[in-house]
Amino acid sequence: MKALITSGGRGTRLRPITHTQNKHLIPIANKPILHYAIEAVAEAGIKEIGIVYGAESDAVPRAIGDGSQWGVHITYIPQDAPLGLAHVVKISQDFIGDEPFIFYLGDNMVVGGVKRFIERFQADGANCHLTLAKVKDPSRFGVPELDGNRIVRIEEKPKNPKSQFAVAGIYIYDSSIFEAVNAIKPSARGELEISDAHQYLLDHGYKITYSEITGWWKDTGKPNDLLEANRLVLENLPERNEGEVDEQSHLTGKVILEKGARIINSYIRGPVIIGENTVIQDSYIGPFTSIYHHCTIKNSEVEFSIIMDHCKITDVGIRIESSILGSEVEITKAQGKPHNHRFMLGAQSYLEIA
Ligand code: DAU
Repeated sequence: MKALITSGGRGTRLRPITHTQNKHLIPIANKPILHYAIEAVAEAGIKEIGIVYGAESDAVPRAIGDGSQWGVHITYIPQDAPLGLAHVVKISQDFIGDEPFIFYLGDNMVVGGVKRFIERFQADGANCHLTLAKVKDPSRFGVPELDGNRIVRIEEKPKNPKSQFAVAGIYIYDSSIFEAVNAIKPSARGELEISDAHQYLLDHGYKITYSEITGWWKDTGKPNDLLEANRLVLENLPERNEGEVDEQSHLTGKVILEKGARIINSYIRGPVIIGENTVIQDSYIGPFTSIYHHCTIKNSEVEFSIIMDHCKITDVGIRIESSILGSEVEITKAQGKPHNHRFMLGAQSYLEIA
């Protein structure tokens, strides 16, 4: 069995962060989202992984490397334009060959691994095994229509969903999927839809079975999904301290300090992760916050947030909450008079002021 992981697409719902950064490299609990996908398939015993990336940037191959750190071999497959998930499968046919494979959307995160789904696919003797998760807003996803425990139809982002389930971004196929992706036509939005490929398999008598994901699963497509995924991962991480805490500081709950992190005269209430060489001074860091490497937080309060590398937050009089800051963002108190707010925001930035 091989694995195919996506890391292309536009990431439009995560702008402005994705103007300068591939969304799959955004850190969740201080680890790029894509690492979670690679770890999940490596843990299932898969050694050959193909990663499809947008050909306009080699950021993903540069950041991820050859796979040796996970004991796997990674082949990079460039995609000229984000023409849809079935297009991703189509351009990967040479890499996959005749083997069955797991197709894992690199922006999805799941707890409990993927081995259980692979075993079900094999036990069922299926051509395609889907994973379904109950969601509040199925019309954002591919949605199955069920008759008992049989999938009878699949629609992509339907206005009137026929069930409460989303088809999650973890699929297992045999080579019949290539017949499907080569036969279907682009949808109204110009993409070769993976849901249309699934519908093709149903229409042509191929066997599709499914597993329900009962633990947590997240598609990290929107800002709140990132914060929520960050919260869930932090909750499950073991405590670790490779940093320094002075005597005036107070740590409660689970706090992870990475190498060279320094906590000075501050109050940290976990679960929290503080990255390498980050300094927290005279500050409060509240639950479900990840602060990445080389940041400085001074005389400020941050809670339920993701702060990326090289950020500086100084003397901010109000608590920063439910926020996502990209690399090298600086927030500081205005000096002098008049007492005003000064902004220097990139395209599609979002700001809420109390
Ligand atoms: O997350 C599950 C959902 O993923 C499914 O329920 C939907 O049926 C499926 O179409 C997909 O919907 P999204 O709208 O979430 O797909 P998105 O455009 O976000 O792309 C998912 C992943 O694939 C992400 O890692 C980006 C990557 N991608 C996407 C496209 C369209 C590519 O690498 N190339 C592409 O051409």
